[in-house]
Amino acid sequence: MRVTINDIKEMKQKGEKISMLTAYDYVTAKIIDDAGVPLILVGDSLGMVVLGYKSTIPVTIDEMLHHTKAVVRGTANSLVVGDMPFMTYHVSVEDAMRNAARFIQEAGAQAVKLEGGVIVAEKVQRLVECGIPVMGHIGLTPQSIHQFGGHKIQGKTPEAAARLLEDAKALEKAGAFSIVLETVPAPLATLITKKINIPTFGIGAGIGCDGQVQVINDILGSFTDFVPKHAKQYAKLTDIMSSAITEYHNEVKAGKFPTEAQSFAMDESVLAELSK
Ligand code: KIV
Repeated sequence: MRVTINDIKEMKQKGEKISMLTAYDYVTAKIIDDAGVPLILVGDSLGMVVLGYKSTIPVTIDEMLHHTKAVVRGTANSLVVGDMPFMTYHVSVEDAMRNAARFIQEAGAQAVKLEGGVIVAEKVQRLVECGIPVMGHIGLTPQSIHQFGGHKIQGKTPEAAARLLEDAKALEKAGAFSIVLETVPAPLATLITKKINIPTFGIGAGIGCDGQVQVINDILGSFTDFVPKHAKQYAKLTDIMSSAITEYHNEVKAGKFPTEAQSFAMDESVLAELSK
């Protein structure tokens, strides 16, 4: 049975830690789903780790929907959250509703995520009122990197820390079912987690959050252009892939692949007839 937002909220009440991973394709989603990870985020990190953009800003809603559909097809149990890309929820409440609806109706996601706190609270409230579960995202929100002047830790000054707490409370009040806290000092993330009743998911926010979220390519070591400090590589897929590809390439060049094991036979008489 598919995990619901109520299951996720209950996990916080019971003090159960919650894991979430990103996925962008059917195969990976299936493996994550089978592993029992309750939430899959189709993040707009898609832009960097799959599509080769320099940031999340160029990612379009059509690209996000295409990958969200694949992830939904690969899942039976995990709750799938579609990440609303840059400028698809900023212009107006109407815009936010129309675009969020596409994730639910066309792509089959069960929730959407959007970046921002107080500034997007009205939109979050309207989406929730219309039956669309929303995950918030505050701290280092990558769609605002130009405004931040780069990938910088957020919430370090008293004013910035107070603002983040206010953002988290505004999202909770607006009806968000959970909040991602990205690249904020661990003690601040712990305090925010204690001050609100919905689950927090940390990424570079320390152990005190209710759950953790990581980009799948970071934990598998399959994206190495940039390895963030918050990521732990549980595998080095790039090395495994590189050695398999090199071996294949060398075997083809040396005439060692394919062997009989990968080939198909046919009736000799058919061949003899053709050779006449
Ligand atoms: O796009 C993404 O993958 C995200 C996570 C890093 C939270 O927003």
